[in-house]
Amino acid sequence: MSRSSSVSSDHIPDISDFDPEKWTIKFVNEGAANLVFEVKLPPSAPSTTGSYSKGNHDIFQGNLLRVPKAGAKTFPYPELQQYWESTITPLFPLDNLVQHQLVKLGHSPSAVVDLLNNVLIKEESGRRKDFRGTRVLPDAQYGMLIEDMRSRNPNDLFLESKPKWLSPSPSARTRCRNCAREAYRDHLDPSHHKAHRLGILCPLDFIACRDSPESLSNVLKHILPASSPPTYRPHLTNWLKTNSLLPLLQKAQSEHDPSSGVDLELAMTLRDCSLFLRISSPEGGSGEVKIEAKLADLDKKNATKKKHHWEELERNLVEGGFYDGKETPREETDCLLERGKRK
Ligand SMILES: Nc1ncnc2c1ncn2[C@@H]1O[C@H](COP(=O)(O)OP(=O)(O)OP(=O)(O)O)[C@@H](O)[C@H]1O
Ligand SMILES: [Mg+2]
Ligand SMILES: [Zn+2]
Repeated sequence: MSRSSSVSSDHIPDISDFDPEKWTIKFVNEGAANLVFEVKLPPSAPSTTGSYSKGNHDIFQGNLLRVPKAGAKTFPYPELQQYWESTITPLFPLDNLVQHQLVKLGHSPSAVVDLLNNVLIKEESGRRKDFRGTRVLPDAQYGMLIEDMRSRNPNDLFLESKPKWLSPSPSARTRCRNCAREAYRDHLDPSHHKAHRLGILCPLDFIACRDSPESLSNVLKHILPASSPPTYRPHLTNWLKTNSLLPLLQKAQSEHDPSSGVDLELAMTLRDCSLFLRISSPEGGSGEVKIEAKLADLDKKNATKKKHHWEELERNLVEGGFYDGKETPREETDCLLERGKRK
């Protein structure tokens, strides 16, 4: 029996039962492998039919719909869900993980998939250039309902970041793994660095910012949009200096190092997740500001397919001198390790 079939399909709601043609769908965002939409049911939606709506419950309320992209070579959603439940949830407190559940998209050809694709076609100009033209996986059977982390009201602020490698990898001397890879990217394509107006954040700053004002200001510069009101700054600063989530992620990463070769899947998953922060400040400035911090995009990686690529990249980083800052020509990075050596 394949692992994916071990997710029981009995309890998985089928969202195509719920008059998809009456939905209001908005494209939210996308990554390389997944598309995220907001679905709103009409106010008059029948609330007595369909398994999803038992007890007048609208399952899209507070959730977004995530679906796989065509062409992305990732695992089927039931396998992602199963992996997340069995391997990821034991590692972090429940309220530090963006919750998700499987939903069925109806029989293929799925009306839901067609509707989502129509939204993509309409929104094409607002999508990232290199993603335009990509559609939902045509025979996708499953989607995920994911806890919506966006702002709930105009005073809220939603931030997202990829913490990447929070500790220097064993090969790192002058640069951490992330900055070594960025230097390598610049080396291959000099326009890469220029595309990042603010430079590239060294992930080690996420942990160092507890004690180092320089690291703190780096992190704030990168994750807080210049346009956001200054009121959020002290709260975010306090969170960055005191949170237990990033040290926990760092610990999980060091317990699962790719070079150990033990669980490459998990090692990669823990280094590619996203951090979502929602800072809520009550209307009128009264009351306490709340910060919700959750990890998302903890999808099982296909280690078998990626192993060769990963090892080759690692070899290029070591042999090309990118960990040591000895590549020619020399690339500029803002790695915490490199800054320390310059002083
Ligand atoms: N729970 C959520 N709440 C709010 N926005 C979200 C949520 N999940 C995803 N998004 C938005 O959708 C984008 C893409 O989502 P996701 O990370 O699932 O895609 P991906 O293809 O796995 O990305 P990557 O290429 O980084 O692996 C996110 O960067 C974020 O902007
Ligand atoms: Mg992903
Ligand atoms: Zn670095």
